[in-house]
Amino acid sequence: MNVIAFHVQHDAGVAVARDGVLELALELERLFEVRYFASARDDDTFREQWRKALDSVVQATGLSRFDVAVTSWVMPSQRRILAELVSAERWVTVDHHRAHALHGVHDAPYRRALVVSFDGGGNDGTFNVYRYREPTLTHVRRVSLNLGTPYRLLATTMAEVTGGRAQPRAGHLSLAGKVMAYAALGSAREAWLAALVEYYQHYQEPLQALYTLGERLGLELEPDALSAADARDLAASSQRAFEILLQQVILEQIADDDEGLVLTGGCALNVSANERIRHSIGVPVHVPPAPNDAGIAVGALWSVAPPSAPPDVFVGLPFAHDVGEEELRRRGAVRVELDAVAALLRRGAVVGIAHGRAELGPRALGHRSLLALPRSVEVKDRINARIKSREWYRPLAPAVAAWRAGDFLPDPSPSPYMSFAAPVHPETARQFPAAVHLDGTARVQTVARGTLLGRLLTLLEAQGEPPIVLNTSFNTKGRPLIQRASMALEALDETDLDFAWLEGLLVPRDHATLQRFSVEGPS
Ligand SMILES: [Fe+2]
Repeated sequence: MNVIAFHVQHDAGVAVARDGVLELALELERLFEVRYFASARDDDTFREQWRKALDSVVQATGLSRFDVAVTSWVMPSQRRILAELVSAERWVTVDHHRAHALHGVHDAPYRRALVVSFDGGGNDGTFNVYRYREPTLTHVRRVSLNLGTPYRLLATTMAEVTGGRAQPRAGHLSLAGKVMAYAALGSAREAWLAALVEYYQHYQEPLQALYTLGERLGLELEPDALSAADARDLAASSQRAFEILLQQVILEQIADDDEGLVLTGGCALNVSANERIRHSIGVPVHVPPAPNDAGIAVGALWSVAPPSAPPDVFVGLPFAHDVGEEELRRRGAVRVELDAVAALLRRGAVVGIAHGRAELGPRALGHRSLLALPRSVEVKDRINARIKSREWYRPLAPAVAAWRAGDFLPDPSPSPYMSFAAPVHPETARQFPAAVHLDGTARVQTVARGTLLGRLLTLLEAQGEPPIVLNTSFNTKGRPLIQRASMALEALDETDLDFAWLEGLLVPRDHATLQRFSVEGPS
């Protein structure tokens, strides 16, 4: 049976399963190179965008006819346009949070689990609880709690988070991750928590919510109006209130026979909250690779039939070689194996790698990654300021060999998709300061041997290096993960990146960089 599923709102995507095997999860932001891409509202542009997306689906899967097509939260006129473009026997719909929950449970290793899906809003609310008893997912409760929109809304009052840029009414989606990192600079104020809890429980719309909270706290909650000291403490207090509320619901719902907890929905990108939950509920926690709306189309597929095998995560588009090898060789490119990349990292290079099909979800997991060894704080500052043009307080995450995770972390539980802000050993913080956030945690990725990154960590180990590497997304400011060779060249030309390794072809920033790292030039 061939199934296709669509998500058209922000983080739009389309996914295809053939006989229960996930064949493709295409995030439209990668195709159109606009982060958080949302389909156009006018019919003509919508039709053109989806025509292009569906061309890519046919190219990647060879499928153009489907037994079932699934939509989630699509307006009737848009559904009619999709039905014009796609040949399917049957059209069905699935609720937004059910799709989040299905992506979560079918990625998790549990047969019995509590599932919490929470975000800034779907057609079915902002916070839903489910119980999974293989093979059935049952809705338990819809909670009146919005931990999504109000969380990022507060960031609109913090100049160090907005960077002084004008914001849409409830703040840009990117503010959520920034304010989470920023919270590490402040301390939660006990006196503020009750008002913040009320703010999250009764949130309706931005202006009313900010006015009421501001009155309670004695703060002027207007764009960029807070002092740095108040802003930092408000971010930390908001994070604390978020965690208290989440923990309360989970403790009320978790059952003795739940093997695990699945956290999904965009709010499950809050790695600090995930970590707190993981250490307070007594069962393992799993977060899928795309808890945000990038995972909606995949979850929607499983509403028709569950996957026949655990879904792969490298199910995006193949890397596009839109620049000829000859041209790359003219600028110094040479063909090298992965061991040469390991050697360059050991000599202090920052290397962007692109390999095979793209990973699903917002975290680079090794197929579209910027890598460096985390030995000095300088490398972190260099990547933040001169390669990614982002705020100094943003952390960089370490990828560590799963089989050696205990060397770096007191709790070496799996974290394959960078879902938890885990404490590190004091020795790890001393040796690898670039991998540790200001609050002493690391958003770690535990890497299995079979993957490209696993092979790289094995090579580092063989070269006498601890198997740990900084892994951040290979993109430039405001852009999605790179998808084609010409984007890698832009990164080399416009930033401080030393090399790009594109499926075996090592491209230097310039000839001087080649010589500086003593890589053998083209013959
Ligand atoms: Fe969502």
